[in-house]
Amino acid sequence: MLEYEKILEYLTADSADELFALADESRKKNVGDDVYLRGLIEFSNYCRRQCGYCGIRAGNKDVARYRMSKEEILECAREASVRGYGTTVIQGGEDMAATGEWVADVIRSIKKETGLAITLSLGEREPEELKLWRECGADRYLLRFETGNDKLYETIHPSLPGKRSDRFEVLKQLREYGYEVGSGVLIGIPGQTFEDLARDIHRFGEIDLDMIGVGPYIPHPDTPLYDMPTAEVGQVPGTVEMACRVVALARLVCPKSNIPSTTALATLEGVGGRLQGLNCGANILMPNFTPEKYRTLYEIYPSKAVLTEQKTDLGEWLESIGRRRGEGRGDSPNRLERG
Ligand code: 5AD
Repeated sequence: MLEYEKILEYLTADSADELFALADESRKKNVGDDVYLRGLIEFSNYCRRQCGYCGIRAGNKDVARYRMSKEEILECAREASVRGYGTTVIQGGEDMAATGEWVADVIRSIKKETGLAITLSLGEREPEELKLWRECGADRYLLRFETGNDKLYETIHPSLPGKRSDRFEVLKQLREYGYEVGSGVLIGIPGQTFEDLARDIHRFGEIDLDMIGVGPYIPHPDTPLYDMPTAEVGQVPGTVEMACRVVALARLVCPKSNIPSTTALATLEGVGGRLQGLNCGANILMPNFTPEKYRTLYEIYPSKAVLTEQKTDLGEWLESIGRRRGEGRGDSPNRLERG
């Protein structure tokens, strides 16, 4: 595995050309040219948390809140299925009105009607809930640890009263329950140093992640982090280039993991951003299936890009860049090998 020092060197080198070439080669060798599509459904923007970076934090009173009905969610999943997708991703804030049982019901219905693989991204929920959802047929879970620097984490991600937030613990539980496990970090958090980031990337390998999602931090004016001072020395920039370095390093430390070219990349640089991600290690895209009327309300950061199938034929586009649309569920080869 790549040593911490080597990771740090790649993060800070003048040129990233060598890194990107190595990552692209590793991607081709380990996961091939297939790019799997995931139908993203942002089902609720209610959230009990106060994350300093996130536009849908509980404290933001300027957001109109929504929660899709079960039938609405199911309709989006059907749409993804009809369009040949193998996976749907159900994402939302920590919305406690979406109870364990309610979510379980959604999972059962999607499974029964579409057979799609289901990825959940619902934040830090109770172990009993995570277990129940897995038993109902959920296949994968995404929970970024955002930063492994405890002090920085505490400032950007306050714990709930009386309960210390420990996302590494949740990741362990997820693995125990048999999920395919995904995590990742934000790149360019004010106060985040290259050393922090190098340690985080090294940790991806230690946890042996099956999926890795990373993206540049994009300041949201209605959040406390907007005005937070940057590190005096060694502040990581929240640029597409830096995010691509992290994608590339993630590919090298977890060669058989599934890695998306994320929406945040496209938000900063449009289609070019997404393409850069695919060219330096990524093998997944997550087109948005959230109904139009809700989409703009799920504003975790400003001007979020939206990749819709309606606008582009992704199959053709992928062929034009020398890749191929993956068919089937697209499980993480890392997880399949672990058994
Ligand atoms: N900029 C970039 N990414 C963000 N996320 C939340 N807020 C922001 C922001 N301002 C990311 C977090 C979270 C994921 C769902 O969205 O990393 O885990």
